[in-house]
Amino acid sequence: MKRVSAGFLPPIALDSGRKVPIYRQLYEWFRRAILAGQLRPGQRVPSTRSLAAELGVSRIPVSSAYEQLHAEGYFETFVGAGTCVARSIPDDALKPAAGKMTGKTAGKILRSSRQSPDSKAMRKVSRRVALMQMPAQTWSNQLVAFRVSLPALEHFPTRVWSHLVNRHSRRPTRQLMAYGDAKGYRPLREAIAEYLGAVRAVRCEPSQVLVTTGSQQGLQLSAQVLLDANEGVWIEEPGYPGARQALTMAGAKLVPVPVDHEGLNVAEGIRRAPGAHAVYITPSHQYPLGVTMSATRRMLLLQWAMRSGAWIIEDDYDSEYRLGGRPIASLQGLDTDARVIYVGTFSKVMFPALRLGYVVVPGDLAEAFSTARDAADQFSSTLYQAAMTDFIREGHFARHIRKMRMLYLQRRAALVEAIHKRMEPKLEVIGAEAGMHLTALLPPGVSDVAISRRAAEMGISAMPLSSCYANPPRRGGLILGYGGTDARQIQDGIRKLAMCI
Ligand SMILES: Cc1ncc(COP(=O)(O)O)c(C=O)c1O
Repeated sequence: MKRVSAGFLPPIALDSGRKVPIYRQLYEWFRRAILAGQLRPGQRVPSTRSLAAELGVSRIPVSSAYEQLHAEGYFETFVGAGTCVARSIPDDALKPAAGKMTGKTAGKILRSSRQSPDSKAMRKVSRRVALMQMPAQTWSNQLVAFRVSLPALEHFPTRVWSHLVNRHSRRPTRQLMAYGDAKGYRPLREAIAEYLGAVRAVRCEPSQVLVTTGSQQGLQLSAQVLLDANEGVWIEEPGYPGARQALTMAGAKLVPVPVDHEGLNVAEGIRRAPGAHAVYITPSHQYPLGVTMSATRRMLLLQWAMRSGAWIIEDDYDSEYRLGGRPIASLQGLDTDARVIYVGTFSKVMFPALRLGYVVVPGDLAEAFSTARDAADQFSSTLYQAAMTDFIREGHFARHIRKMRMLYLQRRAALVEAIHKRMEPKLEVIGAEAGMHLTALLPPGVSDVAISRRAAEMGISAMPLSSCYANPPRRGGLILGYGGTDARQIQDGIRKLAMCI
């Protein structure tokens, strides 16, 4: 049997061993494909000459099949447009006969009709995914006021960036176009190591740096490399939902550990799960409460990890934007036992759609991380990695961070003032020292999910604090992003939010 792909057509299978002549096989194939909806009305089909060449048959049987299809109204020809599937095939003729559905049409029909218990069983998803599925997120509308994790996109130096991307894409080297290194583009790994050493007191060699598709992949790889199914991990309560997802997908057993004004309560973690294999934390700027982990807690955590052989996954997601007080060095820099996996991202400083981040791993884990990355999706776009390297090396990165820090300071001040003026005591701001968002508590008994839903109806994103808890919290709140929300949107947004509460 001969199987060839005719350009944009699904593969056509001709069987020269069959008694049925080739023209008939072709005619039947087209007819079936049209009736099954695989070929749509108006879709162009190849000329008889090119289809015959692709199929390796003479032109005569192809022409005969086309003539028959024309005669029966399945094909029509337009001057200049060649041969097309007829536009006037009635819709009900296109419905596939029962039992002959293609996978695609069958899927559509299942989705639109009520499902039988049997079809539900067929559509079962894994327990890990089922555990993670959440109700519709009313706050995740991308470009509205207070959307968390959104930088000031309108201030991104797009001219400089497109110049750097063009520089590499106009005449790309063979290295940029070929398969890349799973650990990342070497010059970028060097630039990241240098930057983190200088700014975050991270101690590492470029060989310990892996470029990832955002920090989410850093979390996912950490979970996969370090944990086997059902191994315990402390997570912050409240904490970053994306980390919960990555750890759950790896089959880890999550142990929520409360966060207070000093950060993660290490003593409580030891009480709840002394033998946990890892801990996920955001020590520089706790997500979402905004506290900084105290020096005492840091030392306690490192001592526990060293004693018990546990890993520490440090998510340093927005440390560039420390807006008040002294800069806080990374936990990784204090680690003397190679226990910390440091995870970072360019999503906040550059833009989220770039999908570039990094992990810094202990030297002896670099190969294991590289293997896991290779198995996942091999490597990140080398073109963007090269442009990112130049962006850092030529000083644009440092300049942009300085500029954004000033802007976010102003936006934060405007938001805090607007809340004070219009919303106190209904909203109580906590943790507004750093980053691109703040958290504000609601009065006891008020549902943050209901407020978030109402806010979404008014075109505002207000992420409910309860979505960051594994167990129901005592008090709800709202997480409000100000990075991507300008002064006018802040005033307007707070006015609307006041109406929701
Ligand atoms: C605490 C924290 N970690 C990680 C991330 C993931 O960022 P990305 O995957 O875009 O790098 C985010 C994004 O909002 C975050 O808030």
